[in-house]
Amino acid sequence: MNNFTYHNPTRVVFGKGTAGHARKYLDPQKRVLLLYGRGSVKNNGVYEQVLGGLPTPPVLEFGGIEPNPEYETCMRGVEAAREAGIDFILAVGGGSVIDAAKFIAAAIPYRESDPWDILEKGAAMSAAIPLGTVLTLPGTGSEANAASVISRRARQQKLAFIHPRVQPVFSILDPETTYSLPVRQTVNGVVDAFSHVIEQYMTYPVDSPLQDRQAEAVLLTLIEEGPRAVAQPRDYNARANVMLAAMWALNGHLSCGVPGDWSTHMIGHELTAFFGIDHARSLAVVMPALLREQSAAKHAKLLQFARRVWGVTAEDEGTAVEEGITAMETFFHDLGVETKLSAYDVTLEKTAPIVGRFRTAAARLGEHGDLDADRIEAIFRACA
Ligand code: NZQ
Ligand code: ZN
Repeated sequence: MNNFTYHNPTRVVFGKGTAGHARKYLDPQKRVLLLYGRGSVKNNGVYEQVLGGLPTPPVLEFGGIEPNPEYETCMRGVEAAREAGIDFILAVGGGSVIDAAKFIAAAIPYRESDPWDILEKGAAMSAAIPLGTVLTLPGTGSEANAASVISRRARQQKLAFIHPRVQPVFSILDPETTYSLPVRQTVNGVVDAFSHVIEQYMTYPVDSPLQDRQAEAVLLTLIEEGPRAVAQPRDYNARANVMLAAMWALNGHLSCGVPGDWSTHMIGHELTAFFGIDHARSLAVVMPALLREQSAAKHAKLLQFARRVWGVTAEDEGTAVEEGITAMETFFHDLGVETKLSAYDVTLEKTAPIVGRFRTAAARLGEHGDLDADRIEAIFRACA
């Protein structure tokens, strides 16, 4: 097992009826910015619940955060928050609202240069406004981690930053807030969480049986509970199990002591930046092709995945590995998620600028740093 440090300071409040419990965790002296998306929280009653549970009314409300939160929108939030003297952000929504809250929290006190530099240049930030969340869409894990992904459509960029100062102080996870999710978003969350486990599990063995079995437990839970939540949107336990699994997939504990990959995400983010494909759907396209491209280096874990997660019994190891990947693809297809670029009208030719970008950056992705632009091109050929 590899060395690691683990520290997750987010207080997770989980369960039925908790959406209106923010007052228990929020200092009434705080000047709160209430941040949300483009209207779902007003349609499903979550806004009322959250507002009713605040110790004092928010000093400022800022709605309109879009999926794949946009830098320009966030900067309007930063300006308004600076003017209002905000010292706490409460984000109510999915990964996009929470990620926007994290970037706004970092950008408010950042005066050294354009806050975009935090994303593009890894500019050092010395402070951030504290934030809390009420999660309404399980999938990204943003509610219990220190990552944020922001898009800048004008430049076809989608970039991430990770900083402990933007880790939520508390996150409220009330599964009932997810009853109103459209099927597309429920499914996106399941596929995104699945991919987060794969990025931390599908590398090479380091003799870490506990982490492996925890990863497999999250995968098996998503495989069982995801379709159940789709079939019965108001099944509390199905919703709760998906919500817990998605948080567990990316709150940091699965990566303790094991190598990480994250190349599917690096490539998927580019597909979203260039073609606007939903985050989870970009991953469902890249992941199977990437696992096949990397099947030699990932052989031992791919075989374990096939046998333990999908119950593959084929004796020949190569056959078993392929059956495992195919079972994963079938799982995505059964959820209504496509695994080819053509489903999004993206031809191989259209991916050339992405390959060019990786080539210019001399990218070497993956747990062995062996995925270069030529091999990324091969992955696009395979999933075209
Ligand atoms: O705009 P609103 O009204 O909020 O509606 C949203 C949006 O249209 C809607 N929605 C959310 N909760 C709902 C609901 N509709 C009905 N009922 C509810 N309870 O769903 C739509 C999608 O929301 P969004 O927040 O964009 O989805 P998701 O949670 O999948 O977040 C995606 C973003 O997170 C980033 C992605 O790249 C993408 O930008 N990620 C963040 C990560 C992190 N911070 O750790 C890791 C991930 O890998 C990912 O990259
Ligand atoms: Zn993801």
